[in-house]
Amino acid sequence: MSALLELTGVIGGYSPELPILHGIDMQVDAGEFVTIIGPNGAGKSTAMKAIAGLVRITEGRVTLDGRDITNHPTEEMAEAGMAFVPQTANIFTTLTIDENLKLGAHTLPRKQAAQRIAQAYERFPDLVKFRDSAARSLSGGQRQMLAVARALLCAPRLVMLDEPSAGLAPNIVQDVFVMLRRLADDGVAVLMVEQNAKGAMAVSDRTYVLAEGENRISGTSQEMLNNPEVKAIYLGNAGRKSA
Ligand SMILES: Nc1ncnc2c1ncn2[C@@H]1O[C@H](COP(=O)(O)OP(=O)(O)O)[C@@H](O)[C@H]1O
Ligand SMILES: [Mg+2]
Repeated sequence: MSALLELTGVIGGYSPELPILHGIDMQVDAGEFVTIIGPNGAGKSTAMKAIAGLVRITEGRVTLDGRDITNHPTEEMAEAGMAFVPQTANIFTTLTIDENLKLGAHTLPRKQAAQRIAQAYERFPDLVKFRDSAARSLSGGQRQMLAVARALLCAPRLVMLDEPSAGLAPNIVQDVFVMLRRLADDGVAVLMVEQNAKGAMAVSDRTYVLAEGENRISGTSQEMLNNPEVKAIYLGNAGRKSA
């Protein structure tokens, strides 16, 4: 059986002369929670953007559920079953929580949109009391919840997140990770880029290390937590805060 998401020899970048990704191979199974770690500038965000159709792939391919989605327009990704929560600008801060959700569901038939929004409030009960408040009044953690709630409106089989814990207080980081773990346990695959390597590996199933646009090490998150190389490079400064 093939993986839900599969990257095979993906080469690409912001201009054809200067590839950033030098042949990435990666797999995410249905309902699996996968973390990507790696140094700054490794190409983690670029890899996510390439999967989402925002960065040009010049060689290799990306499949979702066996269907080739290489370089497909980003607008088609929701229909294909994928949602992407970028690192910044993932919600509209001047709009209310309800407006954010309605906008996220605007392509759905009216009844389905209402159902999915109701489900979003069920999954994230903390958001209910802020329904009619501007999203800027939310805390950092609540904003991430709203961003994920929006991503789920298209009922994706895979949610990709770029550094969801960036800028959050340590106790809130754990809430976000637990929320993503629950999502994966409910059958929605999660692919997450994280700076907080230790926390991310503690909640996820598998981890890839990316460096200089290439896969370096990968394995179960448990194995990776105990891998001497990973320990030396990525777990030595676990107390460091993200910018
Ligand atoms: N919009 C862009 N245009 C051109 N180069 C970029 C752009 N964004 C990132 N890069 C370059 O791509 C490389 C990888 O960056 P990025 O994927 O953001 O790394 P990471 O997310 O792992 O920190 C870096 O050398 C960076 O300078
Ligand atoms: Mg990045």
